[in-house]
Amino acid sequence: MFLPIVKYGDPILHQVCEPITLFDHELEKLSKNMVETMYAAPGYGLAAPQVGLLKRLIVIDVSVGEKEESLIVVANPELINAEGDQFEEEGCLSIPSFTARVHRPYRVIVSGQDIHGKEKVFEGEGVLSRVFAHEIDHLNGVLFIDHLGAIKRDIIKRKIRKKVRAGEW
Ligand code: NI
Repeated sequence: MFLPIVKYGDPILHQVCEPITLFDHELEKLSKNMVETMYAAPGYGLAAPQVGLLKRLIVIDVSVGEKEESLIVVANPELINAEGDQFEEEGCLSIPSFTARVHRPYRVIVSGQDIHGKEKVFEGEGVLSRVFAHEIDHLNGVLFIDHLGAIKRDIIKRKIRKKVRAGEW
């Protein structure tokens, strides 16, 4: 089932999400729906607040459905190590049609739980590292535009307001 994606302007995107404590059928269903929504968008990743839920759950697939083994679903992800730097163009399904270059770690180690509550550790390099950092940010109410300088951020915000007024958002 496709879930509607919350767009910039909704206060839920700026809130800190709650840890997941119940690893039940509902959570499994939610993750499947988030994966479907991410593939349909299409995007490299999706965080629960983007579908209107304040839960610490992210789904990532940098192959966008091309390779089954690259799908990652993490509950309660935590950045336990970050190394290096990359400065690449980045977008967000909640801020459609805008991109900007953002500094991200080149390599990350993330701990968390799988959909059944089992503890897991993930490593990400390059694009995957960037997506991990971006999605974990979402769980803390942080968007990629929050990493930009005030001038660049304000230009994007102004353009969004214009789209809102034109009924294009
Ligand atoms: Ni995003």
